[in-house]
Parts: sequence; structure tokens; C-alpha cells
Amino acid sequence: MVYDFSVEIPRENTSAIKLDKREAIFGNQNVIPMWVADMDFATAPFIIERLQKRLQHPILGYTLQDDEYNSSIASWLKKRFGWDIDTSWLGFCPGIVAGLNHAVQAYTNPGDNVLIQTPVYHPFYHAIRQNGRKLLSNPLELVNGKYTINFHDFEEKLKMGVKLFVLCSPHNPVGRVWTKEELTKMANLCLKHDVLIVSDEIHGDLVFNPNKHTPLASIAPDIADKTITFGSASKTFNIAGLATAWIVISNPSLLKKYNLQAQRNGTWHGNVIGFEATKAAYSAQGEEWLSQLLTYLWSNYSLVKDFLKTELPKIKLIELEGTYLLWLDFREYNLSNEELTDLLVSKAGVGFNAGDMFGVEGSGFQRMNIACPAKTVQTVLERLKNTFANL
Ligand SMILES: Cc1ncc(COP(=O)(O)O)c(C=O)c1O
Repeated sequence: MVYDFSVEIPRENTSAIKLDKREAIFGNQNVIPMWVADMDFATAPFIIERLQKRLQHPILGYTLQDDEYNSSIASWLKKRFGWDIDTSWLGFCPGIVAGLNHAVQAYTNPGDNVLIQTPVYHPFYHAIRQNGRKLLSNPLELVNGKYTINFHDFEEKLKMGVKLFVLCSPHNPVGRVWTKEELTKMANLCLKHDVLIVSDEIHGDLVFNPNKHTPLASIAPDIADKTITFGSASKTFNIAGLATAWIVISNPSLLKKYNLQAQRNGTWHGNVIGFEATKAAYSAQGEEWLSQLLTYLWSNYSLVKDFLKTELPKIKLIELEGTYLLWLDFREYNLSNEELTDLLVSKAGVGFNAGDMFGVEGSGFQRMNIACPAKTVQTVLERLKNTFANL
């Protein structure tokens, strides 16, 4: 079946955060929303059909994470990444942000150091600071247009007594898909310094050739033994509103600690709709849908890349390896963050995520979500041209 991602679907009156929070975030309800990381594409029809079928049964009571659900996750991980997991290693969380908070609470104590690589998805900061832990950063370095890891600094930070390293793989917002070599090096340094790793792999399916996502815990048993992996069908299949995510922890004592924390927080069981949607997503049809999605996203990325190169060469686009989030470097304009956002919002009428919300390293950058029909991307590009071409 051929899926059409170019269809424009009005999202008004669905309480979509991307639309309805524009006034609160941008002070302007009319910006074209290119921010929150969900997609303006229809959820795949085979997912909707499965939900419709389930809704024919009139009881929506407490529902088990059943064998079919667990096996659908295990076979997806095997097929896509060659990662063999045992279904007894699986746990549930109502979204990865909740899971990150549980992990920080389960594996560290107030005052402990937790390491992240900035700029990074902002809830990483909250999970550390709002739980009274200390944040250490190993800032990513932009070298010849590509983000890289400063391993010397990484180890220096670990030497300061880090309890937990929270990895974003693939990385939001810089769009890197870490190579197996980079991952192995980070993991081995964590093993050397006895540091646990939380690996947020929510974007693991959204990877463009020739890049390959390697689940960190799949690299070696001793790495798996120290790793808590989070993933979800939510980004891949545009079902983030179902608040359903999975955890893989092969180390029984770490799994027990996690589950205990989830029980303390009262978040150990999931919802029937999220389970059903995940089963439908992680199927052969899901693979076909994803392959077409990636082709469409890549063509949107190419559209932006070619346009900026010819029309707005002062805006530097960081090469996209994974995710549908572009990281745009506006620093050549020498504007403050406030001036830049004001131009984008008030003059261009577009709503991106301001780069500094991901950390100070994001100053002068903006994050643009391209998971929308190409027509919307084209309109945004024209607006950028009208605003920035003569600056
Ligand atoms: C790296 C990363 N982790 C987690 C999330 C959100 O996960 P959830 O909706 O499952 O809480 C996002 C959403 O953008 C993300 O980019």
C-alpha cells in the first residue's frame, strides 16, 4: 500500500499541544507550528483499524501488558536492530519523560551527579534538577559542521563521581545517530568508572541511510548489564498522545529497582489503547509504513537543504542523520536569542523551538520539525526568505 504524507490534515479542535499552546509559547496563535516533536501526518490506517476493532468491545478496564504486546516489541527490536531481548526484561512506563524521572529516582540519591550531553532534550535537565540531583554536562562539540563527543571531557566528568549518564541516542536536537564505535567508547568509559547508563532511544527508528541505530545494550553483555533502555512506538508512528513506552533492563536487580520506583509513583500499568496501537505498529505493515515515512522525511530535509543553500546561505543546516528535527544555525546573523525568536515569530510567522531551551550551547540555533506536508515546509522556507534574505 502507498501512504500519502502530503495530505494536509487540520488539527484544530483536537486540543493538539502543537497548535493550542502557540499563544502561551510564542505569544502568537497564528505562527505555523514547527515545534513540538509530533507529526502532522495521519496515524497509520492499520493502527486506527486495530483501535476501532478493540473499541467494539464496550469494556475498557485495567489491561495487562500481554504476551502479544511483549513479543511485538521483542520482534521489532530483533528485525530492525538485530537485538535479541528476552521479554522478561521488559517494563512499562507512561511515556519516556516519566521513565527518565523514575530512573533518576531509582538509581541515584539527592545530591548525586548525573551526566548529560548538551544541548539536549530539555526534560533531561528537569529530570535531574527537579529531583534534587546535580547536573554535569559533557557539551557536544561542533567540529566542521558535525557534532562530536569530547571523550577527554567525558571521562573527566565521570571521574568527578557520576552515578548515572543519560544518553540521547539518536540525539535530539542535533540529529546525530551515534556510531557503534562512539557508543562503545562511551559505554566502556562508564563501565570503567562504574556509572549506570540510561539510554533514551525513542528516535531509534527515525534514522536515514547509511546511518544505523545501534541499541547501546545490544553491543555487549557487560554493557547491557549497566544499561536501562527506553523506547516507544510513539515518535515513529505518531501516537505520542497514547502515553505508552517500554523499558528494557536485562539486569534483574536494576529491573526490580525500576519497577519498585514505578510502583511508588503509581505508574506501573499501561492503557489498553496504547498497548493495542503498539501491537499494530510493530508489525510488517508498520515496517512498510515506516520505510515510506523515512523517504518522505528525507525529501522534506532535502527541500530545506537545497533551499537554504541557494537562498539563505547564512543559515547553516546541521546534517541530519536521524530524527525529524532540523537543527538550524543562525549565528551568522549576530542576533540575540530574543531578537532571533522575535523575527521568526513576529515577522516570519513561524514557530520553531528556540535553541537555548536545550541548553546554552543552543544559543543562536533553532529546531525545526519537518514532519509535515512538504507544502508547509515550502511555505515556511518562503517566509524565512522574506525575513532573512536581506539581513
Ligand atoms: C529524546 C526524547 N525523549 C523523550 C521524548 C518524549 O517522550 P514521551 O512522550 O514518551 O514522554 C522526546 C520527545 O520529543 C524526545 O525527543
